[in-house]
Amino acid sequence: MIDLHHHLIYGVDDGAPDLDTSLEMARMAAAEGITRIVCTPHANDVYPFNAPLIEERFAELRAQLAGTIELSLACDFHMTAENIAEACANPLRYSIDGKGYLLIEFPSFVIPASTPEAIFRLQSAGYTLVVTHPERYPAVLRQPALIGEWMRAGCLIQVTAGSLYGRFGTVQQMLANELLERNWIHFLATDAHHPVRRPPHLLTAYNYVARRAGEETARRLCIANPRTAVEGAPWPEQPEPKGLWENEPLRFSLTPEKKSLFGRRVKAASPAVNDEQTPAPGFWRRLLQRRQR
Ligand SMILES: [Fe+2]
Repeated sequence: MIDLHHHLIYGVDDGAPDLDTSLEMARMAAAEGITRIVCTPHANDVYPFNAPLIEERFAELRAQLAGTIELSLACDFHMTAENIAEACANPLRYSIDGKGYLLIEFPSFVIPASTPEAIFRLQSAGYTLVVTHPERYPAVLRQPALIGEWMRAGCLIQVTAGSLYGRFGTVQQMLANELLERNWIHFLATDAHHPVRRPPHLLTAYNYVARRAGEETARRLCIANPRTAVEGAPWPEQPEPKGLWENEPLRFSLTPEKKSLFGRRVKAASPAVNDEQTPAPGFWRRLLQRRQR
């Protein structure tokens, strides 16, 4: 299996804090059949993408883990105006091994109205976009139709492995499973941050998918599609995404009670909000980003 989303590189974000932890996470991953980890440090206001430090530690880990597991380098790319401008000015810089597949992350509580334009700009710069864990955004839980909009715009979908079996909560589990049923998931990945608190488990999800949707689907989501992304190969044909082009609404919907639980920040946003207008500057913005991770 290939883990497409993993905060393995130590001391650059809220993932592994030190070398020993990185090595432990990599060995845990290898023990359950992961043969390659794509290292995806954050690139956001709290954890800027410090390329020289990241590349140095990536090289160190690659040398230490030679013969145990292979590593690729990418980024957990936050969709800020500054990041988007930077990525467009340096084509493919943030993508997986510089080959074109880019993991994108949205603000948790407010999806900016400028998102379709941002997606188009990045695609025009040559990126193939992979939306990370939509099932975990409060904004998406309130408005799940966003997932279909992103897919129709050409984005691929990466779900966190543990979401399928309830590790991130019941509603996230319900949405993740409906996406699986509909063939709206392209990748499963661990989004590992820590050996205990956010461990690099992919095998449980592989087996879960194999039981529910068949071995071929499990292989596609955990092996074949991630390999395509790592190789930067053309995106292959996938099973028909049920109801996508017909715009058939998802069954998933939050109860009014849960909507208020997940929606405090969304209520504060106007429909015209964009990156510059996001009503969560400074401390609050950083706090919201932390809550998402
Ligand atoms: Fe992440």
